[in-house]
Amino acid sequence: MANAINLHEFELMAREKLDKMVYDYYAGGANDEVTLTENRAAFARLRLRPRMLRGVEKYDMTTTILGEKMAAPLLIAPMAFMALAHPEGELAVARATAARGIHYVVSTMSNYGLEDIAAASAAAKWFQLYVYQSRTATEQMVALAEAAGYSALVLTVDTPVLGRREADIRNRFHLPPGYEAKNLANAQLQHIHPAQGDSGLAAYAASAQRANLGWHDLDWLRGLTKMPLLVKGILRGDDAKRALDHGAAGMIVSNHGGRQLDTAITGIEALPEVVAAVGGSAAVLMDGGVRRGTDILKALALGAQGVLLGRPVLWGLAVDGEVGVGQVLDLLLAEFELALALCGCASLAEVTPDVLWR
Ligand code: FNR
Ligand code: LAC
Repeated sequence: MANAINLHEFELMAREKLDKMVYDYYAGGANDEVTLTENRAAFARLRLRPRMLRGVEKYDMTTTILGEKMAAPLLIAPMAFMALAHPEGELAVARATAARGIHYVVSTMSNYGLEDIAAASAAAKWFQLYVYQSRTATEQMVALAEAAGYSALVLTVDTPVLGRREADIRNRFHLPPGYEAKNLANAQLQHIHPAQGDSGLAAYAASAQRANLGWHDLDWLRGLTKMPLLVKGILRGDDAKRALDHGAAGMIVSNHGGRQLDTAITGIEALPEVVAAVGGSAAVLMDGGVRRGTDILKALALGAQGVLLGRPVLWGLAVDGEVGVGQVLDLLLAEFELALALCGCASLAEVTPDVLWR
């Protein structure tokens, strides 16, 4: 067990263990990292108004999102290339989440294949999709995910091209020999090579993935699968409405962890506008900068049904594999329970907008 008492300490420990190229890729954001920093700062600016003497001693964190039971309003965000953190990579994350009743959103860019990740545990899983220029490659992944028991499809829409992550350009980020993007059936698409004067991933995305997605592509994707469709990367109410018009069952309010458009608004700031636009007719989740139990409480108070956790999962994985991921999740869930207790909320239904001070 790692000797860390909060998620920030896991990052410090992981940084000691990881290669610079890998740490920088995981930790970094786009350009000046204004949005990356704001993802934390925006949570810190929100103040809570705790209720006293509510006579509760048990706190119920369970919830149901898109008809699926969850132990807490917390999911694992899709993140690429987890084997760079630990040899068991995505398999370890799948095991740690299964043991805790937490959903895991598996990335298109995983090092293990989506079928092996599904077989590794009984974890409930959603599949995150990047659309490839090769229609066959895209359609094959969606079909495989559905067949392997993934219960929702998450289309990421904030990445028509990769953001400019300057550390990755400097480090010429790539996948070392022996690491592949296994979900691509075409062997050529599995490799992320070093690129001249660029991040190898940025060059890969530009050459292999589709930059010209439009709203009509949501209709195409819905036609490919029975899985409900969520759209990840929404930051405006009008886009939220259009997602609903095109049949999205939910959306994830997100700036991609500050890795795409620098100086973009944060998820927690964009959330109220999206929640108002959706008006309860679809699931609204958020991510970006969730590091404390109070962050989850604040997102729920602003109308999210749940949040996704990104980088700390990679830090836990780097520090101690499945055990480390489990520790990260347990710390955050314990903090969330404490936040409920100190705010006088016996269940998620009691996390109402008035627990925020404005
Ligand atoms: C990501 N993210 C991401 N999103 C996505 O839709 N598909 C992906 O493959 C990836 N890959 C990825 C890799 C790494 C290293 C990071 C840090 C992030 C974005 C991710 O899902 C999420 O939106 C943010 O990471 C959430 O912010 P925090 O919790 O990391 O602050
Ligand atoms: C990233 C991509 C893979 O943020 O989504 O690195």
